[in-house]
Amino acid sequence: MDFKSPPGVIERAAEEADFGNFGYAKCPAGLVDVIIERCKDLYGWEIDSSWIVWLPGMVCALNVSCRVFEKESSQVFTQTPVYPPFLSAPGNFDLPCTRIPMVLDQGRFGIDFDALEALPSNPSDLFMLCHPHNPVGSAFTKEELAKFAEWACRKDLYVCSDEIHCDLLLEPGLRHTPLALLGSEVAERSITLMAPSKTFNLPGFGCSYAIISNGKLRSRFKKAMAGIVPDPPAMGFALAESAYRTGETWRVELIDYLRGNRDFALDELSKINGLAPYPPQATYLLWMDARSLPVENPHGFFENAGVGLSDGKDFGAPGVLRLNLGCSRQLLGEALERMVSACKDL
Ligand SMILES: Cc1ncc(COP(=O)(O)O)c(C=O)c1O
Repeated sequence: MDFKSPPGVIERAAEEADFGNFGYAKCPAGLVDVIIERCKDLYGWEIDSSWIVWLPGMVCALNVSCRVFEKESSQVFTQTPVYPPFLSAPGNFDLPCTRIPMVLDQGRFGIDFDALEALPSNPSDLFMLCHPHNPVGSAFTKEELAKFAEWACRKDLYVCSDEIHCDLLLEPGLRHTPLALLGSEVAERSITLMAPSKTFNLPGFGCSYAIISNGKLRSRFKKAMAGIVPDPPAMGFALAESAYRTGETWRVELIDYLRGNRDFALDELSKINGLAPYPPQATYLLWMDARSLPVENPHGFFENAGVGLSDGKDFGAPGVLRLNLGCSRQLLGEALERMVSACKDL
């Protein structure tokens, strides 16, 4: 996002800079406490401090998850389109990546349960779930998750659930449900990934964590990290704590602003024939199908018009585009104006 982090985070960064000692640090106890409180208050999920494993980033966590299963899994499943590291991580450990296209139902992308049932799988295969989903912005419902969890347990699979966008649900009334909350059986097979980085715009100070209730699985995860993956930096820990402790009002305002940006973008994009945007329920990302636009390369076309979008081909969906709404309405307006005007003469 383009936004400045919450004021409490900026103050904390200034204090740390003033202190001027940038040595190593262990996680402050207060950060663990606030994570436990938030999991309970925001998602109704009671976790234990021993379940938390620190990581300096989420892409790193996706790769560690694949590494855990490199000898045990025969393949890694993921739903497409998806954030590119989901597609590349399995190959880093010589695991084939099996893509399951999501299904579109009334403008919302969901899980294709028929496709899941038809999939050949082996016990201990890994499913990498993105929840809420980047790039399509779906926040999976409790019913969808329960059905998914039942399937994953029946097939004897493990699940890595990347929930980095879980505090960015745009619809008032929507509440995030961690996959691992759907019962002890699925919790035993789950690696849940969370971080304050997307929500509070802190990714540059890498501070992420996995929550793994199954002690054996947690030990395996730690072993896969050993000697390779460092702890988050001291500044990352400090700013994560202050974001979670002081950023709640800011977060609620952010969500209102992002929802406004989303609705504004949908209005403006409706002026372009041949472009089909999908309203996100979560994230600050807007996925739009440009395959009916009469241009050969939609990504290059809009880039030539001065708008940098993400190219769907990197997400497993050529011809589709992703617009980042995490910016000022004014900048967004300029981008949309350029897009509309570029398409006028098509
Ligand atoms: C679903 C998802 N996972 C992981 C990441 C990256 O996280 P990190 O910067 O901590 O590696 C992103 C960033 O966009 C994301 O959308």
